[in-house]
Amino acid sequence: MTKRVAFIAGNWKLNLDHQQGIALVQKLAWTLKDAGHDYAGAEVTVFPGFTSLRSIQTLIDADKLDITLGAQDISAFDSGAYTGEVSGLALKKLDVKYALIGHSERRQYHNETDAVVQAKVSASFRHGIVPVICVGETLEELEAEGAAAVPVRQTLAALADHSALGDFVIAYEPVWAIGTGQVATPEQAASVATKIRTAIREAFGDEVADKTRILYGGSVKAANVAGFLRSPEVDGVLVGGASLDAEEFSGIARFQKHLAI
Ligand code: PGA
Repeated sequence: MTKRVAFIAGNWKLNLDHQQGIALVQKLAWTLKDAGHDYAGAEVTVFPGFTSLRSIQTLIDADKLDITLGAQDISAFDSGAYTGEVSGLALKKLDVKYALIGHSERRQYHNETDAVVQAKVSASFRHGIVPVICVGETLEELEAEGAAAVPVRQTLAALADHSALGDFVIAYEPVWAIGTGQVATPEQAASVATKIRTAIREAFGDEVADKTRILYGGSVKAANVAGFLRSPEVDGVLVGGASLDAEEFSGIARFQKHLAI
């Protein structure tokens, strides 16, 4: 079976200008270096805003950092009359490796439907960018359908174009746990991750199911990360608020240290 490298993703959302972003990545890199972080055991990726990507890519390049770069969104289109959009072509030129797609804030505030998410996932595959597909249920959906139904449905809808499947990551983020301090239990996260993986296995077979990383997100902190990553079904975390603090985020990246306790 393929070994899945843990994935520690920091989603900065609408925070930090490019100078603050550079300072944060520098501090993060030093902190992880001092702690002897093993990047082969836990990949660390930051998702800055678009205006910071170029500066942070330059820093990563110049200082030969092992931190990888992601974008918070990607256009479904490659070029043309789409004012305000950022294409996968342009992102690829900046060595962007991952793109968040279908974050609940985009689904909620920008009317991103499953069809839009699917088109963006296809654009990602077209440009060799790995989509980090965000799925999760609202509190109302949790009460009506239980935890797994919506995330499983959203996962399969995002991957509906089977013809051009590349590597992808799924981030399970219960909407009621994002930025609220209300965390899912490790058992809830593991149970939903298992159901998502089963659905991927049924749709795409063992190889895809075994290599796909499934993350948990929603109020993750250094103090609670180990609980989630103890389950073999949860392969990493998508972190919002706590990724803006270098010490805290590096504490999350070094979750293996907490596991030993
Ligand atoms: P949070 O955000 O860690 O601040 O809850 C997670 C996310 O939205 O990706």
